[in-house]
Amino acid sequence: MDLLFASTLSGQRVRFPLGGGHLLIAGRTGAGKSTVLRALLWSTATCPDVHLVGVDLKQVELAPWRPRLEHLATTRTAALRLLDTMRQIIDQRYSALRGVAVQWDVTFGPYLLVVLDELAEVLTGPCSAKVDIEEAEALLDSIGRLGRAAGVVLVAATQRPSVEVLGGSLRDQLAYRFGVAVWDKGTSGLVTQGAPLDLTSLGDLGPGWGYWIAPGQPAALARGAVTGTPIRRCPPTPRSPATSGASLRDPRPPHRTHRSRAVPTRRSTASGTSRPSPRPPRSP
Ligand SMILES: Nc1ncnc2c1ncn2[C@@H]1O[C@H](COP(=O)(O)OP(=O)(O)O)[C@@H](O)[C@H]1O
Ligand SMILES: [Mg+2]
Repeated sequence: MDLLFASTLSGQRVRFPLGGGHLLIAGRTGAGKSTVLRALLWSTATCPDVHLVGVDLKQVELAPWRPRLEHLATTRTAALRLLDTMRQIIDQRYSALRGVAVQWDVTFGPYLLVVLDELAEVLTGPCSAKVDIEEAEALLDSIGRLGRAAGVVLVAATQRPSVEVLGGSLRDQLAYRFGVAVWDKGTSGLVTQGAPLDLTSLGDLGPGWGYWIAPGQPAALARGAVTGTPIRRCPPTPRSPATSGASLRDPRPPHRTHRSRAVPTRRSTASGTSRPSPRPPRSP
């Protein structure tokens, strides 16, 4: 399943294959990250088999998308719980997959898109937040490594794609990149992973232009598929039999209609009380 959210100079649609890897949208303020992110969120409007959860500690970007998000974490504590839940889902999906398939397929259950606006807000902060930051790093790292085969996909936007934010293996896991304009060559190199592309010159083209960098493909100049006024309105939630609660095969879906029921805390997870027994996916 591909999400189409941008067009290249030659008019070809940019395809982000769910299950192919994780996505980083990076660039300086005003360069068009949010617009690209919105185009991506809109592209899921016709995909009932894509469920979205969000992390937005700045509480600006994702707020209008609340109706479309199964959960929206706006504090670091809530973000940790959400990421921890995603990690549990991955574990449960791996158990369910064992002996059946090696890769998640949409017939097993929905893809889960974990949308993080301003990744740096989650991964940097005061010394007092050090333990939480380390835990967030570890969770993102393991979701990055294991999520792909379990249908759990990270989409992270950041205006600070620094080594501090994109350290360790997370940088390698975010293999799909949409790099809009940045201020300096060093940052450009971090976003393009050393490819000979200069993101500092993109500013001359106007906002929204960026390089689409996909593994195994030549980089392409592209623009978020949005023209004129930026989209602020949230798309309607897609409905199909696949999304009606009873038929969901996901072992522990974040639940839209019971948002007041918080995702399991780490404590309840440790005691095992909130952990449902995974159901095996249907044979493909
Ligand atoms: N693809 C696009 N088409 C048209 N206008 C765009 C596009 N991308 C960005 N813009 C314009 O640039 C402004 C800044 O974009 P935004 O996405 O908010 O940047 P960022 O999130 O990187 O700060 C938007 O308000 C919008 O007017
Ligand atoms: Mg923005």
